[in-house]
Amino acid sequence: MLQLSLSWLRLGPLAASPWLLLLLLVASWLLARFLARAYAFYDNCCRLRCFSQPPKRNWFWGHLGLAKWQHLASEGSARVNVFEHISLMALDSLQKCIFSFDSDCQAKPSDYIAAILELSALVAKRHNLTFMNKDFLYYLTPDGWRFRRACRLVHDFTDAVIQQRRRTLISQGSHDFLKAKAKAKTLDFIDVLLLAKDKDGKELSDEDIRAEADTFMFEGHDTTASGLSWILYNLARHPEYQERCRQEVQELLKDHEPKEMEWDDLTKLPFLTMCIKESLRLYPPVFGILRYCAQEILLPDGRVVPKGNFCAISIFEIHRNPSVWLDPEVYNPFRFDPKIPQKRSPLAFIPFSAGPRNCIGQTFAMTEMQVVLALTLLRFRILPDDAEPEPRRKPELILRAEGGLWLRLEPLSAGPQ
Ligand code: HEM
Repeated sequence: MLQLSLSWLRLGPLAASPWLLLLLLVASWLLARFLARAYAFYDNCCRLRCFSQPPKRNWFWGHLGLAKWQHLASEGSARVNVFEHISLMALDSLQKCIFSFDSDCQAKPSDYIAAILELSALVAKRHNLTFMNKDFLYYLTPDGWRFRRACRLVHDFTDAVIQQRRRTLISQGSHDFLKAKAKAKTLDFIDVLLLAKDKDGKELSDEDIRAEADTFMFEGHDTTASGLSWILYNLARHPEYQERCRQEVQELLKDHEPKEMEWDDLTKLPFLTMCIKESLRLYPPVFGILRYCAQEILLPDGRVVPKGNFCAISIFEIHRNPSVWLDPEVYNPFRFDPKIPQKRSPLAFIPFSAGPRNCIGQTFAMTEMQVVLALTLLRFRILPDDAEPEPRRKPELILRAEGGLWLRLEPLSAGPQ
């Protein structure tokens, strides 16, 4: 009977084979699943049709070493790819704050820093390769091999610091060691994590601590480098604002010897802070974020974002929304004047994102940018580099400039050396 009913397939007596039956069943099941998915996709597309369509080529993925600068500009002025220099500065200060380690990577090469930079470049490259999202495939490629080697080096460094710190804690007694460090204000991130306990009183494992430290090294360097580089670029293009920032810093530090900043000084640089915020508005280092819609979202105009979709939220576009920002393309720090009451929503300006997964390092980043900018303007005049065309924005994992961001530095003759 079975043989008869399947005769149209011309399979002959083989058709009675239980294996063939099983194969047919599996094939039908796969086909049913494929059709169900295709229908779900079609249905989703229909529901999303009320939203504007993305461009065909996805724009999203497509398209303080001050002594060092003093030396470079000793002939009068110097052309500098600020992005490169500031990345090293940011890594140097992170390594100090996280591990209490002086890498001196701005002056001499460091294997650890080279590995972090290599990993950042490889991650950005891998993002553009659709088939490389599977680890087992990626690790077979030369890039995958380099990635694993660099990862090993970074992990080994962090492990060594954690082991060493645990030994010191045991030999010196954790209480006395940490108390002395807290008093001298030299507690670093590893110390804080070694002290941390979860809600059940359980300490973090070495692996947990390593993961946190590595995350902060990665999240904290490129983002700050991007932020600071674009701030310098904007101030180079607006010498009047640059001069006003400089005067503010000079006035603040006129009685400070040496010319260093204290915590309290950070609240006394209102104009400089306004300039930083306006640059983060026009050139947000993290230009977009993704969120998974765990529930249906009803928008004010009645359209619905269906549950189960990923939403790409463009911080770049939010910051240039013409219904919120007058002349959005114009660099105007007075938009952030704390003396002028702002009517706009707090969600109109979100360089550090918003909600429970916002940037955990934003205070650190703002502090670092204020200090670096203030001390740089005290020593250098920043000018556009006429030899280079206007920089083109390059959205990678963070907002870069194509071919780097080139500016000219001129030492201020009367500035502190
Ligand atoms: C100008 C500098 C910075 C900008 C613009 C920035 C921006 C952001 C943004 C937009 C997010 C959210 C990403 C998302 O929602 O998917 C984020 C997350 C994060 N940032 Fe930053 N960031 C900066 C500096 C830093 C620094 C200096 C650190 C650490 C020292 C840091 C550590 C982190 C971490 C750990 C997360 C993940 C938080 C989580 O997932 O809960 N960031 N950052």
